[in-house]
Amino acid sequence: MRTVSITGHGVFTPSEIITNDELVVAFNAFADAQNEKHAEEIAAGTVEAIAHSSADFITSASGINQRYVVDKEGVLDPTRMFPNLEPRPDDAPGQMAEMGIDAARTALKMAGTDAADVDLVICAASNHERAYPAVAIEIQQLLGAGGFAFDMNVACSSATFGLQAAADMIKSGSVSKALVICPEICSAHLEWRDRDCHFIFGDVATALLLEADATSGFRIDSTRCATEFSNNIRNNNGFLRRTRDQMEDRRDMQFMQNGRKVFKEVLPMVSAHIKAHMADEGVQASDLKRLWLHQANKTMNDFIGKKVLGRTPEPFEQPNILQDYANTSSAGSIIAFSKHSSDMAPGDRGLICSFGAGYSVGSVVLTKH
Ligand code: COA
Repeated sequence: MRTVSITGHGVFTPSEIITNDELVVAFNAFADAQNEKHAEEIAAGTVEAIAHSSADFITSASGINQRYVVDKEGVLDPTRMFPNLEPRPDDAPGQMAEMGIDAARTALKMAGTDAADVDLVICAASNHERAYPAVAIEIQQLLGAGGFAFDMNVACSSATFGLQAAADMIKSGSVSKALVICPEICSAHLEWRDRDCHFIFGDVATALLLEADATSGFRIDSTRCATEFSNNIRNNNGFLRRTRDQMEDRRDMQFMQNGRKVFKEVLPMVSAHIKAHMADEGVQASDLKRLWLHQANKTMNDFIGKKVLGRTPEPFEQPNILQDYANTSSAGSIIAFSKHSSDMAPGDRGLICSFGAGYSVGSVVLTKH
């Protein structure tokens, strides 16, 4: 059986940043305007006033300080509260493809691999900008890659599920070089008008290059994916919307979550998943030099790190990037890997884990060549 290695990685980071303070100013202006508009109903008790958000709450509840976005102005406009992106003609590169190829080119350059030698492109993300043709096929064409390409969506776990799919295909010999690309424009499906979650997400794109029988980068020793249905993270937007006469501005057509339940249910699921994966592969906690975890919430990561290692991890053992990027859905653990793996020595082992809606969880055990 062939071995599979991650030989290159890349991150595309949008140029615009929204700090917690800026976000809260915009939200509070929106809340004040809404409360003024509905002053009579609020006084009569038929409409609930919108409470102010707080930057201190955001930092202490999530660990997030700022987020990168593809459009700051639209999000911070209290009369709009979502990104304002130029429509693009069908013959121009799509928004996701454009971000994805930037990250992919960095990954290819790192590996010294020609795009023409890539024979699989997976675009693994929690949303795709159109129904078809697949964003992955557009990326394949823009890069000049060969073989075939497809989109997949397992929400926040898309990267690790994509890694497993690509690694299994490389092992079995159906492809030899694969790109797993995660362009996440979370700002477009976040409800910026909802105080409970308006701080959660940011935008980014990541890319990983996987190759057969390589001797550089990180060898993929083992992958494991699991799912369990839950409605606690849900977005009802979809192609049946028109048929149901639901084209109005509806809360459930953006990201929704029951944050407390997610916390309670996902943490034990993820900790048990990683520990079982490690036990089956004969990996001891002391063998792991690094955990690159999904980047949703600092408290969640601290909990998982402690459960997996059996002690409080040192910051370099379980690096977080969520303070700068916020939750970038499937891309989070890959940003952490990309930014915090260059110091690892030959033989060092680490584990990537992503988790989220579905519920879904995926883990990948790596060894540095
Ligand atoms: N500013 C100020 N106060 C806020 C606020 C904001 N932006 N948002 C909520 N609050 C208030 C709430 O109204 C509540 O007040 P109350 O106690 O008077 O009712 C209080 O703060 C606590 O709210 P709660 O929603 O229980 O906060 P939390 O500690 O659970 O943190 C999350 C919220 C979202 C950070 C947290 O639940 C979380 O990270 N969950 C993990 C899930 C996740 O991130 N999933 C993403 C997909 S993987």
